[in-house]
Amino acid sequence: MPSTLPEGDPVPADGSLPAQAYVGMADRSLSIYLHVPFCATRCGYCDFNTYTAGELGSAASPQSWLDAAVAEVDLAAKVLGASGQQREVSTVFVGGGTPSLLGAGPLVRLLAAIRERFGLTPDAEITTEANPESTDQQLLADLRAAGYTRLSLGMQSTSSRVLQILDRRHTAGRALQVVNWARSAGFQHINLDLIYGTPGESDADFSESLRAAVGSGVDHVSAYSLIVEPGTRLARQVRTGVLPMPDDDVLADRYLLADAALTAAGMSWYEVSNWAANEAARCRHNLAYWSGGDWWGIGPGAHSHVGGVRWWNVKHPAAYAAALAGARSPGHATELLGPESRRMEQILLELRLADGISIDILSPAGRAAAVAYTVDGLLDEASLRCGRAVLTLSGRLLADGIALKLTD
Ligand SMILES: C[S@@+](CC[C@H](N)C(=O)[O-])C[C@H]1O[C@@H](n2cnc3c(N)ncnc32)[C@H](O)[C@@H]1O
Ligand code: SF4
Repeated sequence: MPSTLPEGDPVPADGSLPAQAYVGMADRSLSIYLHVPFCATRCGYCDFNTYTAGELGSAASPQSWLDAAVAEVDLAAKVLGASGQQREVSTVFVGGGTPSLLGAGPLVRLLAAIRERFGLTPDAEITTEANPESTDQQLLADLRAAGYTRLSLGMQSTSSRVLQILDRRHTAGRALQVVNWARSAGFQHINLDLIYGTPGESDADFSESLRAAVGSGVDHVSAYSLIVEPGTRLARQVRTGVLPMPDDDVLADRYLLADAALTAAGMSWYEVSNWAANEAARCRHNLAYWSGGDWWGIGPGAHSHVGGVRWWNVKHPAAYAAALAGARSPGHATELLGPESRRMEQILLELRLADGISIDILSPAGRAAAVAYTVDGLLDEASLRCGRAVLTLSGRLLADGIALKLTD
């Protein structure tokens, strides 16, 4: 886990935002992210801002986090409402960490606080992440009854060997059982997260994971290549030769397997790592991130972005709870994005989407690079003729490098 946060300007104690944030705000939709910083145990590959009970000791607890998160919902409503342009919330995403570890009570209470202080749009998308081992039928029924509309479940793999290398605490069977329970509880939109390229995983293992995901009938799959994050147990295992580094060619082959299997099952990619069965199944919350929308991130270490103003919270749950208990913003630092940084960010994020980007936002050098990429078969030629840079299947394998080059 990175031990330090990036530096920026200080956030005012009352959390107020510069005028730029409010310009045109009434015309933009609003999303809320809630970060749950707790896990039962830490998976060896994960560097997210999350803590086990042993790591936290008495410094912070789910209760102090909940009180603070409700207080931050209040703060967000006050700050965003300051311009008189208060908006209802279109999407909520509870992520972590392991939200399901908390049980329904805190998740229901937080959604109620958002509904009360902001209101939700009639078609609001309300997602929670969940881990298979801490999700049961009662939790799903309670979340659905409270208004949650979407479940994102970390299945990762169906191979028990791979799950063990990843330090996962559940079986594949349990993940598939949770999908069935979620459907019975009335969840129409269910995502399964898969990880590919784990040392020891074979093509056949990953094909089986894909087959099981498709066979479960979920309407969304996210497939991520295993990233060896510095400072994790996995990174140590790779450094000391206990496990090999995931191989780039193997990762590319697995991506192609994923796209072929999910496409054959009637799903389409709409972002490089995300496939959905239809338009309604796409995650609108993540689309808001990728298309430069407004979102307020609640919780320790959560990031926010409103109208080109970005800020991020203090990382540790104890520091987070202390700030809000003292009626101070938990914001650690902030930065104003100028037009050039916003343009770069738009290219880096939106090129990963199936709609790609308009070439109008590219510099002459970026456009020349786009033309060269069509010659290499990495950008779609017909789309470029219509003024858009859109990745081909081969291009998706190199998405981030291509996007970087287009920012020239
Ligand atoms: C941080 S987890 C939170 C949700 C939940 N705790 C879980 O594990 O499913 C969200 C997703 O991030 C992905 N993830 C986390 N660390 C990763 C890494 N180093 N490489 C690839 N994917 C990773 C996993 O697929 C996981 O499902
Ligand atoms: S359960 Fe999820 S958030 Fe927690 S350590 Fe594992 S991958 Fe990270």
